[in-house]
Amino acid sequence: LANGVALTPPMGWNSWNHFQCNVDEHMVKSTADALVSTGLAAQGYRYVNIDDCWGEHKRDSNGNMRANSSTFPSGIKALSDYVHSKGLKLGIYSDAGFRTCSKKMPGSLHHEEQDARTFAEWGIDYLKYDNCYHDGSKPHIRYAKMSSALLKVGRPILYSICEWGQEDPAKWAGRYGNAWRTTGDINDTWASMISNADQNNIWGRYAGPGRWNDPDMLEVGNGGMSLEEYRSHFSIWSLMKVCLVSSFIIHCLVFHYMAPLLIGCDVRTASKGTLSILGNKEVIEVNQDPLGVQGRKIRSKAGLEIWAGPLSRKRMAVVLWNRSKSKAIISVRWREIGVSPETPLTVRNLWAHKFVTMDDFGLDVKFAPRVPLFRVLQKLEVFQIYVSHSILPQVMC
Ligand code: GLA
Repeated sequence: LANGVALTPPMGWNSWNHFQCNVDEHMVKSTADALVSTGLAAQGYRYVNIDDCWGEHKRDSNGNMRANSSTFPSGIKALSDYVHSKGLKLGIYSDAGFRTCSKKMPGSLHHEEQDARTFAEWGIDYLKYDNCYHDGSKPHIRYAKMSSALLKVGRPILYSICEWGQEDPAKWAGRYGNAWRTTGDINDTWASMISNADQNNIWGRYAGPGRWNDPDMLEVGNGGMSLEEYRSHFSIWSLMKVCLVSSFIIHCLVFHYMAPLLIGCDVRTASKGTLSILGNKEVIEVNQDPLGVQGRKIRSKAGLEIWAGPLSRKRMAVVLWNRSKSKAIISVRWREIGVSPETPLTVRNLWAHKFVTMDDFGLDVKFAPRVPLFRVLQKLEVFQIYVSHSILPQVMC
C-alpha cells in the first residue's frame, strides 16, 4: 500500500508471543524504556505494538472502543504520548470481526471509520488487524474497509493484515495494507519456525517496499530454542528479500526473508545472547536493505538449504542453512545464486563480522547442525578461484 510507510520491513516489538493477554501500561512503558536502554531502538526497532486484550469488554455508550480501565488506567493517548516522547511509535490491535481472537474485546467490523478515527486521535502509528469471529464475508472485503478508513484519518498508520494466509493474501493484501500474514501462528519451536519460513517463502515475488509478507513475529529470546536455532530464525526472517547480481560485489549471507522484525520476547529481561542476535547490525542491514527484494530458498536437499537474494549496490545475501540432524557439507555454485564464476568477489560473514578469506573456504571448516552461515561478499578478489573452480569451496554448515 502506497501510504508512505514500511518502505523497508517494519521493525519493533509486539506483546503477544511473550505476554499473550497479560498486557498493561506499566509493562508497555517499561518495554519502551528497555528498547531504548538496550540500544535496540537505535538499531531500528521503533514500533511498540500492543496486541490483543488491551480494551474493555464492551464499547462505551457512544460506541467507542476504550482501553481496559484496570490495566490501562491512564488510557492509550497517554501511553502514546509516553512512547512518542522516547522517539518510538505505538501500535495497537483490532479485528475484522465482531470480537478479537481472545474474545475479550470487540472487533472493528462495521465500526471501521469510527475506530480508525479513535486510533488516530490516540496517536496510533500501526494497526495489526486480525481475522476472528467475523460474518463469513471474504477477507479482502473486510480488510479493504479498514484500509479506506485508515487512509481518511490524516495520519500515516502502518496497516498489518493478519489473515493467516487462508485466502492467499499475498495476491490481494498489498492493495490494502503494508504487511500480511502468510501463516498461522508461530510458536517457540524449531518445527513451527521452519514451517512458517517455508510457507512465507512461496510468496516472495509479491513483496516489496510498502508491502511485505509476514511469517509472524520473532520468538528469539523466549526460551524454546537454542541460541543457534534463534540465529537461524533471525537470519531467515531478516533475509527474505534478494537482488540481481551482475557485479564485482556479492553479499553471501544468511538470508533474511525481509520479513517484519517484530521482537516477541520480554526485552526488559533479555539475555546478552538474545540481544546479540536481535541487535546484529549487519543482519539487520540485510533486512532493511533499500532494494526490498525478498530472499528465497534456491535449493534444498535432505535438510541442506541455500537461501539467497539480491541487495542494493550489487551485493547479494546468501544463507547456507543446515536443517538436518547432523553435520554436513553444503556447497553453493556461484551460478545458482546468479553469479558468473569469473566474477571477482568478496565474502563477509555477518555473524562473525569479518571478511572471509580464501583459507576459510578450506574443506575442514565445520559447522554444527542448524547453524546458518551468513556471508557477505565484498572487496576481496577471488577471481582465480572462480576460474579454476566453478563452485564455492565446500563448507561444512
Ligand atoms: C491471532 C493472531 C495472533 C495474536 C492472537 C491474539 O491468533 O494470529 O498473532 O494476535 O490472535 O488473540
